[in-house]
Amino acid sequence: MNATKKLNEILVSLFNSVLKMEEKAVKDSSKHNLSITEVHTLSAIGAGKAKTMTQVSASLKISISTLTVAINRLVKKGYVNRFRVPEDRRMVKIELTEEGIDAVHEHEAFHLKMVDEAISELNETEKELLIQSLDNINEFFKMQKVKPIKSDKPLKLKPMKLGESEIPVPIWQGGMGIGVSLSKLSAAVAKCGGVGIISISQPGFLEPDFYTNPVEANIRALQRYIREALREVKDVVNKGLIGVNIMCAGRHYNEYVKAALEAGAQVIVSGAGLPTSLPGLCKNSKAKLVPIVSSARAAALIIKTWAKKYNRVPDAIVFEGPEAGGHLGFKEEQLEMAQGDFYKTILEIKAEIKDLQNCPLIVGGGIFTKEDVQKALAYGADGVQIGTRFVTTEECDVHPNFKNAYIDCKKEDIVIIKSPVGMPGRAIHNAFVKRTEKGNIPVEKCNSCIISCKSEEAPYCITQALLNAAHGDVENGLVFCGSKAYKANKIEKVCDIFKELTS
Ligand SMILES: Cc1cc2nc3c(=O)[nH]c(=O)nc-3n(C[C@H](O)[C@H](O)[C@H](O)COP(=O)(O)O)c2cc1C
Repeated sequence: MNATKKLNEILVSLFNSVLKMEEKAVKDSSKHNLSITEVHTLSAIGAGKAKTMTQVSASLKISISTLTVAINRLVKKGYVNRFRVPEDRRMVKIELTEEGIDAVHEHEAFHLKMVDEAISELNETEKELLIQSLDNINEFFKMQKVKPIKSDKPLKLKPMKLGESEIPVPIWQGGMGIGVSLSKLSAAVAKCGGVGIISISQPGFLEPDFYTNPVEANIRALQRYIREALREVKDVVNKGLIGVNIMCAGRHYNEYVKAALEAGAQVIVSGAGLPTSLPGLCKNSKAKLVPIVSSARAAALIIKTWAKKYNRVPDAIVFEGPEAGGHLGFKEEQLEMAQGDFYKTILEIKAEIKDLQNCPLIVGGGIFTKEDVQKALAYGADGVQIGTRFVTTEECDVHPNFKNAYIDCKKEDIVIIKSPVGMPGRAIHNAFVKRTEKGNIPVEKCNSCIISCKSEEAPYCITQALLNAAHGDVENGLVFCGSKAYKANKIEKVCDIFKELTS
């Protein structure tokens, strides 16, 4: 018998045997009147602290409604307590009663005894080998669940559900500061059925009091841009949504989130750090909350924290890969490996969120052509996020010199730069970047934009560098761009890009 056949027989038989033994143990030797599914539900609640329904449903990988039916029964039987959290009456938590804890301990003891007896004849080396081999097989099966789709037919970008909203075309425009994505670009994208994003990186840079009163100037301008974009798309049929992008690394995060909600932002996208406090800031708002991550680990951490602290899951997740523009979510030394692992990471994040109800995955970084979109979809993306391609459009808010810098640049002009933010960035290798390579450029006036930046030690002032570029001085400013910016060869209309990518 060959190894594949033998292994298949072992796996199938092992699975059936464990299941039968568990059922028998629960039926014959347990003092509790529970089914095996009920015991597994109790184990997922666990003997520790009370959990939210979202946490338990995510760990069991079942829907909240299925879990509710199961919990109703377990409450009736006396194994689970369900209560409202006194500090937030809207939040319901569940915990095990003493009977419930006893049932879980009894089940755990059964499992340990079963495994202990099964491996009692093995020596330590054999045990280690067995653990390693089974671990590998387990990993393989996890990834198999989310294998890329093999299809000869072109894949279609389907409308995306985002909470109760529907986005007709799942193309998200990435938020781009400073001054690159404001009301005109975001409205043009939403008019085509996508999600238009206004960047909350110094949106007030054109306000007369920006240098003396930056926070107020930013809030005033931000709210005006959001309202303008919403007004612009108001009567459009089949429109998408207007959102904002806010970096966790920036100061005044809470004030900017509050201001964006007040002006009617429909989506809040937040990255450059983990937006763990975001749901708490958006408690009474219908805005959709979307974290940006660069790994499955970060996605898992956000999902876990939001479920535990706020009883909610993200409305969608953006995975931004290492080919993106602006600041990158990877250390410089990780970039090459992350580039090679881009599609594998899509699979891993998809596996992480697969069983959450309604949490689409949007993939960005280096998406420029229809082929790029097709490949991301084949690996499980529900939508794409695009920054660079939208810069060279008629509607993009940035200075024309900035757009032309993209059109004029070659592949070798696009480099990774060091930033005072503490993450690497991608930009055009112009006179400014060459100056930074020779030594630090002293910060003349610090407006305290980034939490981690120390102006005395900073290689240059990031805000001033980006402001110069936003004002059109593209040689003495920092021109952020994605890895594919050299592919831009003309100024396009946003609707033509939509047609090309979706046709
Ligand atoms: C000029 C420029 C500015 C950007 N600024 C921001 C920003 O302020 N915050 C942010 O989260 N992402 C920023 N990004 C990243 C984009 O939102 C986008 O997700 C990313 O660039 C997608 O990759 P692509 O440009 O290859 O399409 C910026 C990108 C560019 C090109």
